Amino acid sequence: MSDRHNFFELPHKPFRLMWMELVGAIGAINPRDEAALARLEARVEFATDVYAEHNRDESEWYGPRLRELHAELAARWLADHEDHLRLLASLGGRTRAVRAELAVAARRDLLADLYRFFCEFVADDLAHMSLEEGQIMFAFQAAYDDDRLHELEAAFIAERVSPDAMQRLTPLYLRACNVDERAVVFAWLQRRTPADIFDDLMGGVVANVVPAGELAEIRARLGFVAA
Ligand SMILES: [Fe+2]
Ligand SMILES: [Fe+2]
Repeated sequence: MSDRHNFFELPHKPFRLMWMELVGAIGAINPRDEAALARLEARVEFATDVYAEHNRDESEWYGPRLRELHAELAARWLADHEDHLRLLASLGGRTRAVRAELAVAARRDLLADLYRFFCEFVADDLAHMSLEEGQIMFAFQAAYDDDRLHELEAAFIAERVSPDAMQRLTPLYLRACNVDERAVVFAWLQRRTPADIFDDLMGGVVANVVPAGELAEIRARLGFVAA
């Protein structure tokens, strides 16, 4: 594996975790449990929203830059995103259709179809993320040195990742990432979220997810004042 900077790897980890957990949730759901079906709908809505945003961000921000480097690869990549946006909309519709159906036997069939459809989407999307971390990233690495890749990533975060989006995704990022990646996420949060939101996150979700010893290590590494 290349030791060059790869700006697709870290953001994909939370999305992989999100899809894996959703596979489990869809597979295990009880068609008679109205509350669980409502919670599933909310989870799918969150997942499809944040992933559609990820697709659009990649297409609209990195897409034109890749087109300059490799037009054919860029065209294929953007077409994948368009296709996935349709699949994400279909996933939302299929999920809502389960609770709208009142007959349990019919719900069972709809859930079985939803499970198959979702697993096929995940298989396709895992391959898509590998393409981004591989062939697409290699095109950027061939054109730019690592300092320039870091600058591009910082510009992307500044222009496309709002403090709100960052706050919304922080729990997933922290749960999906290892200690080194968490340190990177904290540095992004510190740079991109207002001080009061940053303090809330550090005292809430961060303290709940990250073990105390690891948190102290990351704080020291980043030069934060001790909590
Ligand atoms: Fe993508
Ligand atoms: Fe991606």
